Amino acid sequence: MCGIVGYVGPRNAVDVLINGLSKLEYRGYDSAGVAVNTGNHLEIRKNAGKLGVLSEALKGQSLTGTLGIGHTRWATHGRPNDVNAHPHATEDGKIVIIHNGIIENYLPLKESLIAKGHSFKSETDSEVLAHLIEEQYKGNLEQAVRTALKQVRGAYSLVVTHADHREIVAARTVSPLVMGVGNGENFLASDVPALLAYTREVIFLHDGDMVVIHENDYRITDLAGNEVSREVTHIEWDAEAAEKGGFDTYTLKEIFEQPQALTNTLLGRLRDETGEVDLDINLDPKSFKRISIIACGTAFYAGLVGEYLIEQLARIPVEVDVASEYRYRQPLVSENTLAIVISQSGETIDTLEALREAKKDGAKTLGVINAKGSSMTREVDDVLYIHSGPEIGVASTKVYTSMVSAMLMLALWLGRARGTLDSAKGAELIHAARELPRLVEQALEPERVENIKRIAEKYKNARDYLFLGRGVNAPTAFEGALKLKELSYIHAEAYAAGEMKHGPIALIDENLPVVAIATDSFLLEKTISNIQEVRARSGQVIAVVSDGDTDASRHADDVIFVPKAHEMVSPIVNVVALQLLAYFTATTLGKDVDKPRNLAKSVTVE
Ligand code: F6R
Repeated sequence: MCGIVGYVGPRNAVDVLINGLSKLEYRGYDSAGVAVNTGNHLEIRKNAGKLGVLSEALKGQSLTGTLGIGHTRWATHGRPNDVNAHPHATEDGKIVIIHNGIIENYLPLKESLIAKGHSFKSETDSEVLAHLIEEQYKGNLEQAVRTALKQVRGAYSLVVTHADHREIVAARTVSPLVMGVGNGENFLASDVPALLAYTREVIFLHDGDMVVIHENDYRITDLAGNEVSREVTHIEWDAEAAEKGGFDTYTLKEIFEQPQALTNTLLGRLRDETGEVDLDINLDPKSFKRISIIACGTAFYAGLVGEYLIEQLARIPVEVDVASEYRYRQPLVSENTLAIVISQSGETIDTLEALREAKKDGAKTLGVINAKGSSMTREVDDVLYIHSGPEIGVASTKVYTSMVSAMLMLALWLGRARGTLDSAKGAELIHAARELPRLVEQALEPERVENIKRIAEKYKNARDYLFLGRGVNAPTAFEGALKLKELSYIHAEAYAAGEMKHGPIALIDENLPVVAIATDSFLLEKTISNIQEVRARSGQVIAVVSDGDTDASRHADDVIFVPKAHEMVSPIVNVVALQLLAYFTATTLGKDVDKPRNLAKSVTVE
């Protein structure tokens, strides 16, 4: 967690840092801070709260310099207050650091540093890094950082500067770090959007890399000091693509970007004539006896849809695990296992560690990932990029529908290669996939959006919500409930509709809105029976129904019509209605949808 920016060059560093941090607040927004080399010393400014608090405080202050580092925090060790905000400095203020990650052995390190006479100001694990580096410093900052890091266990992207050196030293293990290569200036950041206003040439630093930057040069080494060469990647998305583009929030913009994101995910991969997909995956689809899907949160729900699709179309046993459980449950894995990790960021530590666990036991690994160059993409045997573009809203929306469409393509890939899916059925599903951008576009038509807004307002004072879905749309109910919880803070539970009578039915009374996914399906009659069970107990039913289905809509208090899609792809169309319901419930209640409380976009701590 946390966002990091570093700059050295001719510009005013404060402007570069604040602008860069504003693109990284999705990584945490408990506090923000900068340190700027004013020419003769390092000046630190930091405040608890969002970046806006710091930038307000900086107005009217004459803080100038052309080298600086900045940080936006998601608190792990120590409360989110001014003192615990980064940067952290040594007692003499000469060495200043910012850190993203967790130093697992910080307590013994802190005790031994205190015994040597160091005094600490904050409760953070990160502050030990400043003092450790000071201990090792004998005139060469790079060398001091390298030696200090030998004593450190944990995850870090660390950025350090010294008042007497016009350079920034950085290192990464686990937590992400990107370098921006400029003309007479160089940059560091946790993620590319922070750099795009200044450069499109970036280097994704690898685990164990260290880099020293000056305005006119940089040098990358491993932790032992051996030079390593890393390729410069040209980033195509412009800064505008990462901005709000006319919408009130990033989240709403991203919900509306789904037709385009889906087009990008499917682009060039569907073969209509043969009913096949071309995914450019260098793994043998016939060699697997079993598939493990591993992910967290929204990506996990995309995995549940994937399980349904793969088992139906490719007839291979699939299990889906939340990554934090998988990594500790000693899963049964062999070289006939394909482990698929699904992740937007490619940095989620639970998923990354679960991937390592699966690899250790001999599984072949495949990533379904959005973020190019992220840690997971470098550790899997192959990657299926979902190409959704940057997702800034903390709650995942467009990435979910892209992930599900990627899982559909994987099911087609496996099914066609293994002979469980003939070309006619393959072609039917490819046609269904091709329809998706258009159907999602329709799901976002103004009158549908208005209807959902009205329903959101009607039920905004509910204390709890229940979501029900069946078959391939059971995960849609889970994802709908997660979105409502994250964005509006209303408690929501989701169940496979047939399971309701085994317990949750006890919750139903006139105060409980129940969202039932009742779109076209071979199970629709059963779902309608479940709806009736709710209504018989005075529950309020909001039914998500396929266009034109007057029968299903008769059973509900409120109806959200959605475009009719092939059942196998219907989760992608149906979830859009639930994203909007969560979104408008939250905005009606005045919540900060782009940055829901307590959350962070990229969860790089356990
Ligand atoms: C929910 C959400 C999270 C993420 C989860 C995994 O809206 O965004 O549940 O899906 O933290 O993140 P990634 O996909 O980056 O591994």
